[in-house]
Amino acid sequence: MRIVLIGPPGAGKGTQCKRLAKHFSIPHLSTGDMLRDTSDSSPLGKLVRSYIDAGRLAPDYLVLPIVTKRLAQPDCKNGGLFDGFPRTVNQAEKLDEYLAQAETQLNLVIHLEVDQDELTERILKRAEVESRADDTPETIKARFEVYHHQTAPVLEHYRAKEKIAKIDGMQSPDRVFTEIIDAISTSQ
Ligand code: AP5
Ligand code: MG
Repeated sequence: MRIVLIGPPGAGKGTQCKRLAKHFSIPHLSTGDMLRDTSDSSPLGKLVRSYIDAGRLAPDYLVLPIVTKRLAQPDCKNGGLFDGFPRTVNQAEKLDEYLAQAETQLNLVIHLEVDQDELTERILKRAEVESRADDTPETIKARFEVYHHQTAPVLEHYRAKEKIAKIDGMQSPDRVFTEIIDAISTSQ
């Protein structure tokens, strides 16, 4: 089972992937988490942090080796939930190549749709309880711009070749989860 979740910052990708990972017993592959884990005090870590803190995408020469290494781990054999990857058309092409080489494919691409006002509200609410350096009004704006310019075209890339399910992410987390599960069952 290989599922990609695409949606703007705050859409609920992480929330849903955690639930789906339990439900299907496959790993949650969040590039945001992977990059945050590497953003230590080393020069490379500081470089990664500078992109995250500015709300800009880390370059592929940093991201792709991290993803490839993660995908080579044994727990990814039966699939995974891609959260925050691919985020550019180039990353989507790299994932296509990887899957073709592994003689497998994506089962479904989930597009989580949420209004921008709601997204901002969710992220600022999260900022009160969690300390993510990129959850500031300025950085949120930059992250939305990056999503519209660099990540939304990934949906066009997939529209031609993969099954895409559009899910209304404005609903409760339980309802969103149920609709994702239904979309996955009907896509098989
Ligand atoms: P990443 O960590 O992927 O962040 P993001 O895409 O900005 O998304 P978020 O994690 O903020 O939101 P989410 O959709 O996961 O929502 P969540 O479930 O938390 O990326 C961070 C940075 O890393 C990037 O800016 C970039 O610099 C770098 N990066 C990552 N991947 C990269 C890549 N592939 N290439 C290059 N750079 C990369 O929910 C948000 C909040 O809303 C939570 O508080 C949650 O409890 C709440 N919530 C969730 N669902 C609902 C609901 N249905 N109703 C009400 N509240 C809800
Ligand atoms: Mg997330």
